[in-house]
Amino acid sequence: MNINDELTVEIEKLSNLGTGIARIDGFVIFVENACPQDILKIKITKLNKNYANAKILEVITPSPHRIEPFCAMQKVCGACQLQFIDYEYQLELKRKIVEDAMHSIANLDIKIPTPIASPEIREYRHKIQYPISQTKVSRRILAGYYKPQTHEIVNIKHCPIQPKICDEIIEFIRLKSFDFGITGYNERKHVGDLRHVVLRVSSATGKVLVTLVVNSKKVFPRLKDFCNDIFAEFKNVSGVCVNFNTKQTNVILGAETECVCGKDFIKERILDKTFRIGSNTFFQINPKSAENIFAYVKKYIKSNFENPTILDAYAGVATFGISVSDVAERVVSVEESKESIEKAREVLELNEINNVELHNTDTAIFCNKTNRKFDVIILDPPRKGCTQESLDEVLRLSKGTIIYVSCNPATLARDLKYLCEKSCHVESIQPFDMFCHTYHIENVAIISKI
Ligand SMILES: C[S@@+](CC[C@H](N)C(=O)[O-])C[C@H]1O[C@@H](n2cnc3c(N)ncnc32)[C@H](O)[C@@H]1O
Repeated sequence: MNINDELTVEIEKLSNLGTGIARIDGFVIFVENACPQDILKIKITKLNKNYANAKILEVITPSPHRIEPFCAMQKVCGACQLQFIDYEYQLELKRKIVEDAMHSIANLDIKIPTPIASPEIREYRHKIQYPISQTKVSRRILAGYYKPQTHEIVNIKHCPIQPKICDEIIEFIRLKSFDFGITGYNERKHVGDLRHVVLRVSSATGKVLVTLVVNSKKVFPRLKDFCNDIFAEFKNVSGVCVNFNTKQTNVILGAETECVCGKDFIKERILDKTFRIGSNTFFQINPKSAENIFAYVKKYIKSNFENPTILDAYAGVATFGISVSDVAERVVSVEESKESIEKAREVLELNEINNVELHNTDTAIFCNKTNRKFDVIILDPPRKGCTQESLDEVLRLSKGTIIYVSCNPATLARDLKYLCEKSCHVESIQPFDMFCHTYHIENVAIISKI
């Protein structure tokens, strides 16, 4: 096989990153925007020792699951890799991704059920982070997602997976920034004012928190006027904040945020509890699907325990802790972000909850310093999963049940393998679709100590 070779292949399956996989004499070819059962004419674009990459030249026979994507930008934007595949089949493909990860990484022969579908498959995404730049000649402000594998912004005027108000706010910012002399950021030269716009939208109230991430250390008068103008324009904007980020980094938010007008949070409702979400608070981007996960975990605990003590590790704003607080004797929530813990404290007061303790520290450090035992331990780490050190500590404090919530099947499988080597048994894994039209999939694993 050579670069630029043109071949006819049938797509066998989807990789864990949402790319089609074809094989020629066992040699793997990754094909972008391909669906299992597609018969395609492809061109080899990159050749490596163990695999090749290819692009589609022609869809000879489309998979029966191919559909017209509902977003005109699907091919260029890269945010919804699977939108050209019917939703039911997306769920089946994700089920298979989880099952494959469990077999190949964890050596676990476990049957994975169909993911619980997202209650909404359009306008489901409630956190938007658009990078901002400016065109050289016409000085137009660009706002949207990066093209895959580039830092080139696709100027997105309408995104159907986000609430409609997001398009309106972003368009207002695009057009009005000129009037206030606010420039778009040039990443290469590290100049310009506006780096990102971050929107947090409440699915319960429709209110939006707008955060302008700026290449500045303070709010300057033009910026203040711009914030006031945004606030005055939209009755559904609950507040406009400015986040300061002067570093040359890919990290979106800087450490400091100032609220310029209105409130610095929106309220969200999950399982009859009210949460507060700030600019930098971790909160699931699909609240309706997240609610299904919280309900599933709560139901499991309620059916299997009476007044348990629960450790809620990697707690965010203690979303799990608070959701299960009324079926627990005591909940201990541990989270390393100070802002999230502060928001969690407000949420406890707001909901008059008295049996949840908050600890602002690292999970492994917290566990290492205590000898308290817990009936149930909930782990909900970031994509990179848990460290072996934290898993060892969790095992030491566990009376028998661990509920591991994960947004990354590969690190979940790695950590389950480790736990199984330490005499644990995986009772079940239930996937939930939080990120429709992407290859991402959330899982809840129930684990028992033997
Ligand atoms: C996937 S989020 C889960 C948040 C929360 N459980 C929820 O559902 O909204 C992971 C959280 O873990 C926190 N975190 C990351 N590493 C941590 C660590 N070593 N110890 C404690 N918290 C950590 C992050 O700040 C983030 O809030």
